[in-house]
Amino acid sequence: MRKPVIAGNWKMYKLLAEAAETVLKLKSLVTNAGHCEIVIAPVFTQLKTIADRLEGSNIQLSAQDCASESEFGPHTGEVSTSMLRDAGCSHVIIGHSERRQFYGDTDQSVNKKVKAAAAAGLFAIVCVGESLAERDAGAEENIVKGQLLNGLEGLTLADTERIIIAYEPVWAIGTGKTATPEQAQEMHAFIRRTISEIHGESVANAMRILYGGSVKPDNVGLLMEQADIDGALVGGASLEAESFAKIVNYK
Ligand code: PGA
Repeated sequence: MRKPVIAGNWKMYKLLAEAAETVLKLKSLVTNAGHCEIVIAPVFTQLKTIADRLEGSNIQLSAQDCASESEFGPHTGEVSTSMLRDAGCSHVIIGHSERRQFYGDTDQSVNKKVKAAAAAGLFAIVCVGESLAERDAGAEENIVKGQLLNGLEGLTLADTERIIIAYEPVWAIGTGKTATPEQAQEMHAFIRRTISEIHGESVANAMRILYGGSVKPDNVGLLMEQADIDGALVGGASLEAESFAKIVNYK
């Protein structure tokens, strides 16, 4: 059985006081949610404070990115995976489409970051997904397969236990356009087959594959009914404690 993961990606939103207030509210709204793992990802500067606020709760902490180097060194502006652990993170989002589109992340840098996450014992939420032009050209499977083959290249069996995939079609992110449950299921099944080809069936069957792209309280239920959808990576609707709690409590 794969335990679902509902993760909130706060992107570059909220100042510290508001972030702290949101998690306190969220904590009280999801105390009984034992059916899934709950993760939130605030910006770097808020991680330690939020980690302290979350102590003893069932909400885990994620960063939104990490350095591709895992050793200390002259990498101005970068934050390593061991530093994220040190600040209280258990997870890190890697290769989000906004980072791939606007900040130079490539499958190769994603692969280095995934290995850095593994070295620090973090769960890596690895994002994949096609653009609208790629889908219109019928290339979505090829694109996602390439992202998986290159992004997860060279991982050990133990490393794969800490990988969570997030399928996020770029055309559905922040647009209010969700993939239909059927479209999402089709891609999730394809991703699981691809993981199976690379790492074998038992790794593929154990791996959580989250859907992301305009997940809201009113569409999460149908998405979660799909056989290969094991959770959600939520942007906009995770910013308010009430709406994110409704998504967490989809059952
Ligand atoms: P969205 O963002 O829910 O606002 O579409 C999802 C994401 O970017 O992870």
